[in-house]
Amino acid sequence: MQYMLTNDAMQIANEWQKYKGYTVRPLDSTTSYYQKIIRDNIQKENFLIYGGTPEIRSIFQNYSLYVTLLDRSEEIIRAMGYLTLERVPIASNESFIKENWLCIEETKRKYDLILGDDAINMVRWCDFDLFLYNAHRLLVEDGLFVCHLLVKPYDHFIDQDFFDIVNQYHRKTILSQFDLASRLNFICYDKNSYAMGWQRTITMLGKKRLAVLNTQFDFVDTFKFCNSQFYCPPQMQFEQLVQRYFKIVEIFYPHEHEYCLFEPVYCLQRK
Ligand SMILES: C[S@@+](CC[C@H](N)C(=O)[O-])C[C@H]1O[C@@H](n2cnc3c(N)ncnc32)[C@H](O)[C@@H]1O
Repeated sequence: MQYMLTNDAMQIANEWQKYKGYTVRPLDSTTSYYQKIIRDNIQKENFLIYGGTPEIRSIFQNYSLYVTLLDRSEEIIRAMGYLTLERVPIASNESFIKENWLCIEETKRKYDLILGDDAINMVRWCDFDLFLYNAHRLLVEDGLFVCHLLVKPYDHFIDQDFFDIVNQYHRKTILSQFDLASRLNFICYDKNSYAMGWQRTITMLGKKRLAVLNTQFDFVDTFKFCNSQFYCPPQMQFEQLVQRYFKIVEIFYPHEHEYCLFEPVYCLQRK
């Protein structure tokens, strides 16, 4: 499945600029947390990122640390490169491996630290186990996996009516367009598959209804090229599963928006 609905690298980069502050990209507090973990492990040698998250790549560029990027799409990785500190498709401290996270070949190289910003959410819930098993295989003994993910939102958010959300936004009980965007996704959450996604929300709510919102931001225009689909399990189920392979060292929550309640960052240590 194509992650962005365009192949033009500059257009992908420009679209991604629009996503700042929304759940798609790490917030400042999350980026600071990543920076702290990388700084704490700066003496290590082998680092890996699932995906091409510009904020994480910029930290490695800043420290001139060599890092491997693992993703099935070279196009996305190269496009994201324009949003990093170096502003190049692949920087001199980076190497790219094109691979599906669910079928990673046996490799002699093991990593000390892996970071994945909403990467696990990209695979179906039934594949989370395989994703975690592969992350475990890629790590050295005691290696760390920093796993940021979206988990299932509250049921009363999922069951809410669209116009109720619009009213709350106008009454300012939904404080920002960043939370508004997430709350619209929440009402389109599929309780069976745990899926959410921008195109799913646009299709389910319809462009006409979403046009009601066109006050400060235009949901359809902002996300029309983002084909990201994320699977967000109940947090307890995720924690049960993760402990097959990892010890939970720490859970960090970003704090800028209400949606951060459902966006824990797990610092996991290989068992
Ligand atoms: C890091 S993830 C998440 C980004 C963002 N936070 C979001 O919510 O859309 C985006 C990346 O996942 C990659 N991706 C998705 N599924 C993949 C898979 N099974 N194997 C490798 N890369 C995958 C896409 O190519 C894309 O570059």
